[in-house]
Amino acid sequence: MFLLALETSCDETSAAVVRDGAVLANVVSSQIQLHAEYGGVVPELATREHLRNLLPVAHAALREAGVTPPQLDAFAATRGPGLPNALMTGFKAAQAMAFASRRPFLGIHHHEAHLYSPWTVGDPPRADFASLEPNVSLIVSGGHTMLVHVRGEFDHIVLGSTLDDAAGECFDKTAKLLGLPYPGGPQMDLLAAEGNPGAFDFPRPLLREENDDFSFAGLKTSVRYFLEKHPGLSGDGQRLRDLCASVQAAIVETLVTKTVRAARRLGVRCVTASGGVTCNSALRRDLMTACEQAGLSLRLAEQGLCTDNAAMVGIVAERKLLVSSEGTNLDAEIDPGWALEDAGARN
Ligand code: KG4
Ligand code: ZN
Repeated sequence: MFLLALETSCDETSAAVVRDGAVLANVVSSQIQLHAEYGGVVPELATREHLRNLLPVAHAALREAGVTPPQLDAFAATRGPGLPNALMTGFKAAQAMAFASRRPFLGIHHHEAHLYSPWTVGDPPRADFASLEPNVSLIVSGGHTMLVHVRGEFDHIVLGSTLDDAAGECFDKTAKLLGLPYPGGPQMDLLAAEGNPGAFDFPRPLLREENDDFSFAGLKTSVRYFLEKHPGLSGDGQRLRDLCASVQAAIVETLVTKTVRAARRLGVRCVTASGGVTCNSALRRDLMTACEQAGLSLRLAEQGLCTDNAAMVGIVAERKLLVSSEGTNLDAEIDPGWALEDAGARN
């Protein structure tokens, strides 16, 4: 089966072709440059860009996969959560293609796509659902930070999530305070590599609380106060690198400690992580060390599948079609506030 998947939930326009668990093409057109001058994603501009790029990106994916439109057997798109109008562009396009060609259509939950992305590995990437075992999964990006208990395939419950800012948002907002370009996460990662993570002490929010929730708004505020007390710090190369490393250490320690603690409490033997912040080198390294020490196996989404992409949507869609053979109604609407708990049960 050849399946075309589209992802337009935020600021990445992406199309992928998957077949029998293999990713044949995964084309991503990022809008980062467009939004950089505003310091964040502008929903109206994102929608306009998706409309402009969607068909060229879809054609590029088909070309790369060596597939022509009549060969497509199924269509999928992200249904939610995400920016409403941005979601609408990919969702309605895929629905229309399915309607016109009388093929099945699947509306996929964005977090569910992230959740299973660590199981797609190799070059070319291929889904490995046969190895899936119960795990605790950290989904961490610019829009979401959550811990999920995956009990089995498409059987998962949310353990906790952020009460305010997402971890990626904390990276981005802190970087903005430091005058770094958007998105700040990758910039902070680079600068932190040459900084001292113990130079400044920042709060580890909710670290000692016996729950699986996160809160990063206070950390960002403490960086703001810190900068008010230390004007000119962001102009001092080494102190700036130390500050980035110290903030990164606070975020990473919180994420790692809470993830491993949840895994031990639930008695799973596996931890997974996905979403844009999973690109962070300190997070990858410290999760690996902590899991090794706790005797847990670790599956990190591969770098190219961490940030938003259509391959993860296509892989989940194809698997769902295989398991239940049921698609999503052709008159279904987007669901910008869709809760992950509701995703396993319905398409
Ligand atoms: O998953 P994603 O592409 O989009 C959302 O669904 O949010 O994640 C984007 C987020 C941004 O906040 C970005 O700063 C962060 O991932 N990010 C990083 C790194 N690479 C991307 N944060 C820290 N370190 C990185 N290396
Ligand atoms: Zn995402």
